[in-house]
Amino acid sequence: MKIAVLVGSLRRGSLNKMLAQNLEVAAVKLAPETEFEYMDINLPLFNQDLETDFPAAATKLKQQIREADGVLIVTPEYNRSVPGVLKNAIDWSSRPAGDSAWRNKLVGVVGATPGLIGTAFAQGDVRRSLGFLNARVMATPELYLSGADRVFGADGIANDEEQKFLADYAAAYLNFVTENSQEQREVSQ
Ligand code: FNR
Repeated sequence: MKIAVLVGSLRRGSLNKMLAQNLEVAAVKLAPETEFEYMDINLPLFNQDLETDFPAAATKLKQQIREADGVLIVTPEYNRSVPGVLKNAIDWSSRPAGDSAWRNKLVGVVGATPGLIGTAFAQGDVRRSLGFLNARVMATPELYLSGADRVFGADGIANDEEQKFLADYAAAYLNFVTENSQEQREVSQ
């Protein structure tokens, strides 16, 4: 199973990248054939004028999303909303009209912050955009990782207590993708 991962932070040492990598370890432990493919979302700023000369990096992102069995979005919260770099990637991959990469995509949305409310607003905004794009977002379980600066060691590995919690999320998400991709195959037959 191939999972395209969008990390909404370009920062070296990103807590969200660490969260994604810990989920990857948990997922591979559960299902060794799982592959996490990290998307490059360092794209030009969206400009509708460029839709006729679509940037190669945005075309590549759309193709990788399309080819994946599921998409995992791991995002920080900026000013109580979605980081611009992630929203920009969602906007590019939703265009041109009628050619969105998100339709029926099986998506998990999670996030980490040193703060107290676990990226709840950012995740809510991402879910709203993906709902509009007819993606199929896993509603629950949710993963809001607060106090994340105290969760990961210098090696980037989560502490034992959180690892159990991340493994539970990884199991639920893999199950969501497996069950729903089977259902999609049956519907399209
Ligand atoms: C933040 N941060 C932040 N945290 C939060 O929980 N809610 C918020 O609204 C914001 N707002 C915000 C705005 C901007 C512009 C920055 C740069 C930061 C703090 C943020 O959670 C923290 O920097 C994380 O470490 C960012 O995620 P990565 O880069 O570690 O993955």
